[in-house]
Amino acid sequence: MNKPVIIITGASSGIGAATARRLARENVCLTLAARRADRLQGVASDVEKLGSEALIVPTDVTNRADIHHMVQATLDRWGRIDVLLNDAGISYDEPLVDLEPDKIRNEVQVNLIALIECTQAVLPVMLGQKSGHIINVASIEGLVATPGSSVYCATKFGVFGFSDSLRRQLRDSGIHVSAFCPGYTPSEITPRLKAHVEVRPDAPHHPGLMPTNYVADQIARLIRHPRRMVILPRSWSVLVLVAFLFPGIADALVSKFKAKRT
Ligand SMILES: NC(=O)c1ccc[n+]([C@@H]2O[C@H](COP(=O)([O-])OP(=O)(O)OC[C@H]3O[C@@H](n4cnc5c(N)ncnc54)[C@H](OP(=O)(O)O)[C@@H]3O)[C@@H](O)[C@H]2O)c1
Repeated sequence: MNKPVIIITGASSGIGAATARRLARENVCLTLAARRADRLQGVASDVEKLGSEALIVPTDVTNRADIHHMVQATLDRWGRIDVLLNDAGISYDEPLVDLEPDKIRNEVQVNLIALIECTQAVLPVMLGQKSGHIINVASIEGLVATPGSSVYCATKFGVFGFSDSLRRQLRDSGIHVSAFCPGYTPSEITPRLKAHVEVRPDAPHHPGLMPTNYVADQIARLIRHPRRMVILPRSWSVLVLVAFLFPGIADALVSKFKAKRT
């Protein structure tokens, strides 16, 4: 049987790197894409030690030529693409009045436009195979808007809408599309949270805080059992429902836990 071929964007750190290491235990072929080649090299050696194959493709997802190179290099090496994990993302997490226009554009470009372009680049391959799985890393903030990160929320709501529309369009095509919506995990995108956890590992849990390894386990599980959407932690599905049905209650709840997170 063919080993699954999986492309991970944002594989150089955080959730993407943890997922690469997690999937490596399952004898897979991984294309590791991000800008920092040195970091990708470290992830690739771990992947190979765990018995899987790794291909490093230094990629800036805001560059369309890089995206096409990432897809072509994967096809040249393994001849197929089973999973695209669209994980690359950034967050400036600054109030809109303070955010420089270039940062706004960059955040939308990386989190939303690049994710759409990566998907568009692998889609003909998956349609030809009549199989595949596109996993788009959105966020809980793509379902429940939080104060102080309006541009990030806009991109992640966009990722969710894009995923759900494409999923409906591709029904019966053999291609699954999933929106993966985690709460908070300490990583480079959440520097204050990361620093706090590193300095005080025994500190009381922030609401919804999960280690990257747990998030990676859930992505591995999603690959085994494709679903429309995953909300992590699962109990936060209630928050999503409340935010939709009772936005006034959500206003109070969300301000409280956003304040705790930052
Ligand atoms: N951490 C959380 O609490 C949390 C919660 C919900 C959702 N998420 C989402 O999870 C995803 C991964 O975030 P993380 O927490 O793992 O943060 P992270 O450690 O900062 O990882 C972000 C990854 O995106 C890559 N990236 C950024 N800009 C890129 C570009 N232009 N081209 C290619 N790759 C680029 C980075 O690699 P290079 O810098 O090497 O390019 C890095 O590998 C993001 O989409 C984020 O929005 C995170």
